[in-house]
Amino acid sequence: GNITFTIIKPDAVSKNYTEAIFEKIEKAGFEVLKRKDVCLTKELAENFYEIHKGQPFFAGLVEFMTSGPIVVAALKKGNAVEDFRATIGKTNPLEAAEGTIRKVYGEMVSRNAIHGSDSDENAQREIRFFFTPEEVEF
Ligand code: GTP
Ligand code: MG
Repeated sequence: GNITFTIIKPDAVSKNYTEAIFEKIEKAGFEVLKRKDVCLTKELAENFYEIHKGQPFFAGLVEFMTSGPIVVAALKKGNAVEDFRATIGKTNPLEAAEGTIRKVYGEMVSRNAIHGSDSDENAQREIRFFFTPEEVEF
């Protein structure tokens, strides 16, 4: 597919990295189709990360994702999901390749600056989760 979805997480937003991160995303060849600022409630964060329910880090993940504003966006590029995962780097910033967004802007696995969808199916789910149909009439 040619669409993916991203979240600039609360750590990166609070450190004012948002615009630098979007510049890096656009430099990597992605078009930002739509973006908006969001604050997650506990219920929304639990629902968004429901796949991780039962993991030892789940409560901390929900706490972190509700700790401040986030920025969500739909992105367009050929091979979007895979290319974007490469652009952001490994989940753990300490293991992420040089120049990747998580390497540059992330601190640790629990504060890793950015999310990228892991499949075309999840990209669609996540876009529907955050945007109304009217907001994403691309
Ligand atoms: P996302 O793009 O944010 O979904 O990251 P990911 O796909 O690289 O990782 P995954 O979906 O497996 O995990 C979602 C988020 O949970 C990660 O981005 C981390 O912030 C957090 N997480 C995952 N694994 C761990 C872990 O072992 N410890 C902690 N503390 N957090 C974790
Ligand atoms: Mg994931």
